[in-house]
Amino acid sequence: MEFEIFAALRGQAAAHAAAIRRDAAAVAELDVLANFAHLAAENHYCRPEMAAGGALEIRGGRHAVIERLPLDDRFVPNDLHLDPEQRQVLLVTGPNMGGKSTYLRQTALIVLLAHMGGFVPADAARIPLVDRIFTRIGASDNLARGRSTFMVEMTEAAVILSQATERSLVILDEIGRGTATYDGLALAWAIVEYLHERSRSLTLFATHYHELTERARHLARVANVQVAVRESAEGVVFLRKVIEGEASRSYGIEVARLAGLPREVIERAREVLRQHERAEARTTSTLEGSEAPQMQLTLFTPLAQQVVERLRAADLDRILPLEALNLLAELQSGIRGEG
Ligand SMILES: Nc1ncnc2c1ncn2[C@@H]1O[C@H](COP(=O)(O)OP(=O)(O)OP(=O)(O)O)[C@@H](O)[C@H]1O
Ligand SMILES: [Mg+2]
Repeated sequence: MEFEIFAALRGQAAAHAAAIRRDAAAVAELDVLANFAHLAAENHYCRPEMAAGGALEIRGGRHAVIERLPLDDRFVPNDLHLDPEQRQVLLVTGPNMGGKSTYLRQTALIVLLAHMGGFVPADAARIPLVDRIFTRIGASDNLARGRSTFMVEMTEAAVILSQATERSLVILDEIGRGTATYDGLALAWAIVEYLHERSRSLTLFATHYHELTERARHLARVANVQVAVRESAEGVVFLRKVIEGEASRSYGIEVARLAGLPREVIERAREVLRQHERAEARTTSTLEGSEAPQMQLTLFTPLAQQVVERLRAADLDRILPLEALNLLAELQSGIRGEG
């Protein structure tokens, strides 16, 4: 009897399959739209103004997901202005943990939500229609398919450069990090130039290459923005506000300290950085222009090595007591990073 009832029901359902599928699709669509409305009302989203092209403008934009998380501080809304004529590429700099990735992703999310027909987490937004949103974010590898971390990064970049058009939105979060500093910098620069000259896509590009932002001043449609911080006695304070201009530092060691790296490592890192910066200043002042190989050498030659070499070169049979003392003082101040 049970089977008969089941078979009858199945028969009826099959007879009306087309109508049931149609209704299910309609209910699903209604469900999504009702949820858009619900979210918009609950979280104070605004209705974006859609445009055929032109500027991408967001006032008081937020990240739909992160703003809902129980953060220590309140989420700080940020403005954005991209414009194919004058401000096509935006280079975003600022400290680690500053909020660069969040800013990039919230922009992509807002544009996506708008295209889906939703309201967006912002006070106001003008969204030009885009043909695609391209993103290259984070570090991952695909060893099973024969791709190292850097290979994955470059493969994704290659897809973007070959397919992005002047109607695309391109989000690049720190390109070129997975290789040697100068290779990465060179690639990042060439990619920015290509997007600026050839693809002409609206582009957000987060980077720690401060050399890049300096050179970018010479490109007509590139602008620099930075995530603001305040330095205080206790360390850096993240303000999470995106403002015009470029950051000069990344505060990487400061953030590593907050993350709980052993104090010994932090102090040693500071010392190495100080030496590197002194060497860099010397190199640039004597040679006018930076000497890349030499800088890398000073950064990565362990200090102990320099001390060992000085000691080895000292002729103990001939050295005067005062000279020996001076040498000792010099070596010590070198180790302490004060010399
Ligand atoms: N506008 C904001 N308001 C409040 N908190 C924020 C905001 N933006 C980011 N944060 C918080 O800061 C954290 C770090 O942000 P994010 O990952 O964007 O930094 P980042 O600048 O990309 O750092 P890195 O250079 O290390 O990649 C986020 O996980 C979030 O908790
Ligand atoms: Mg980031």
